Amino acid sequence: MIGIFDSGVGGMTVARKIEQVCPQFPLLYFGDVAHTPYGSKSSDTIIGYSRRNTDFLLNQGAQVIVVACNSAAATSVDVLRAEYSVPIIDVITATSSKAAAGTLNGRIGIIGTRATIQSGIYEKQIKRVTPDYRIYGQACPLLVPLIEEGWLNKRETKMILRRYLHPLRQHQIDTLILGCTHYPLLTHLIQKKIGKKVQLIDSSIETAQHLKSFLDNSPEITSNIKEKFNGYQPHCLENNRFFVSDSTPPLQKLADGIFGRKINLIKTNA
Ligand code: DGL
Repeated sequence: MIGIFDSGVGGMTVARKIEQVCPQFPLLYFGDVAHTPYGSKSSDTIIGYSRRNTDFLLNQGAQVIVVACNSAAATSVDVLRAEYSVPIIDVITATSSKAAAGTLNGRIGIIGTRATIQSGIYEKQIKRVTPDYRIYGQACPLLVPLIEEGWLNKRETKMILRRYLHPLRQHQIDTLILGCTHYPLLTHLIQKKIGKKVQLIDSSIETAQHLKSFLDNSPEITSNIKEKFNGYQPHCLENNRFFVSDSTPPLQKLADGIFGRKINLIKTNA
């Protein structure tokens, strides 16, 4: 099974894309809603949560782990790769490559949580390949709580977004990385506020494509996934299970909205 984790519902944008791009594989999702947001916590705390989430997914039968959270990927992915033998896919690698390949003027903006922006990870990855590009990061710590609350179209959300995006507009970026898996839920507002000429790079789409090409090139892993899943039926959405460490009505509504169907959120104390 493909195990996916995030601090909350954000990673569901990644899980949904994975369902669409790799429909033949069963998914296991864990949203650590009880501890969201990760992006405002220390690296040590996020690493601790990431280890625990990985253990939970492996115990449930995951054979590949997707860290569907930029904050967790920015702080913990090297630790997880050193400590676990399963393949670990992160949301940052494919997203930075796509942005670097897509910009025409070499000016790229990144919005994300404080943990992601302070880590400088996108900048490092992009500059490794194209050192002369100008990268502008903007931490947007208020967006995750607003999204988790379901405030996707509220006036307050628009005002805060305008304020966060203003400096990036001044830097005349032509490409903007949505460096938090929650942000695709605000794409409509972000595109409007940053301007329609700016290309948005959505880490959920890039990560799903990255996972697909990884699986396409790993026949041993894919046959293992099919063999070990009891009652495996390809293309069956019923195979997919969604665990959360806490559940609230706004969260359920967001989950149903992201997948376009009723999602059974299973509460666990993992
Ligand atoms: N969705 C997450 C990310 O991609 C985390 C948000 C948070 O918990 O701060 O960074």
